Amino acid sequence: MIDQIRKYIEEAKGFSTNSSAEIEEFRIKFLGKKGILNDLFAHFKTVPNEQKKEFGQVVNELKNLVNDKVNTLKEALEGSSEVTSGIDLTRPGENFEIGSRHPINSVKNRIVEIFSRIGFTLSDGPEIEDDWHNFTALNLPEHHPARDMQDTFFIEKEPDVVLRTHTSSVQIRYMEENKPPMRILSPGRVYRNEAISSRSHMMFHQIEGLYIDKDVSFADLRQTLSYFTEALFGKSKIRLRPSYFPFTEPSAEVDVYWGLETETDYRMTKGTGWLEIMGCGMVDPNVLKNVNIDPEEYTGFAFGMGIERIALLLYQIGDIRMYTENDLRFLEQFKSELF
Ligand code: PHE
Repeated sequence: MIDQIRKYIEEAKGFSTNSSAEIEEFRIKFLGKKGILNDLFAHFKTVPNEQKKEFGQVVNELKNLVNDKVNTLKEALEGSSEVTSGIDLTRPGENFEIGSRHPINSVKNRIVEIFSRIGFTLSDGPEIEDDWHNFTALNLPEHHPARDMQDTFFIEKEPDVVLRTHTSSVQIRYMEENKPPMRILSPGRVYRNEAISSRSHMMFHQIEGLYIDKDVSFADLRQTLSYFTEALFGKSKIRLRPSYFPFTEPSAEVDVYWGLETETDYRMTKGTGWLEIMGCGMVDPNVLKNVNIDPEEYTGFAFGMGIERIALLLYQIGDIRMYTENDLRFLEQFKSELF
């Protein structure tokens, strides 16, 4: 008998719930009219005298324990505002994390959107390219020294097949298949065999633009780029520095005037106020000839930029490696991006 009561004590000690129905069940089981305790008290008479004292002690222990248990469980429930349904409405819900766009993607989308407002459409091409589209048609014949400007990944045993070093190859493909006027943008991955550092990568993203029509001038190029930098950075002051690309003549590097308003501006522009953002130029007549467009009738401009770099400037990201580390603390900062 006494052993059985000790078992009840263990049972009562171990009991726990946050449902009021279960507390009530527990209370009735022990303290109810036909409950265990009444049963035990009724048995008291039949207990041999020498056991009465111990019997009384354990039954009392059980009674106090059950009473305490019911009270503390009820208090805990009231504290947590559980009503009668057994559902605790104060418990924290399950979190659904909303994903965010990768900064490279949002910047690409922004750039596409800005140029689409002035009539540019998207054009796509393969990442594994042939020599003609990546080099030769772009006025870079075999053994041309400018091929070294972009360290190339060659596909083994196929000297004619490369991983494209720029998306200019897409422009050749497009010009081969379409007639001017044309206004296209070609975003995509490009590959260069460069040492890995915080500034360079084996693979990065480019976006290039091409505009061919009658009477397209260098002034049109400049105005288009100024419109672009105003729309993207809120800064329309640009300068074009003479440069060299085999596929454009004349060629230029584009700098945007970032300003020197803050400490960060000084660091970013090394105290000059200017930041280089892309290359551009008037499409070389040789390139037009290569794709059967008459350079006497048509002219055009092209420009190209690295998306990683633009995103660094736009979001003030310190290190290009962050793009590929998949660190959520970094990626979560772009949740508010609309593009
Ligand atoms: N293709 C050039 C590069 O990858 C960029 C560029 C494009 C320059 C178009 C001028 C015109 O560096």
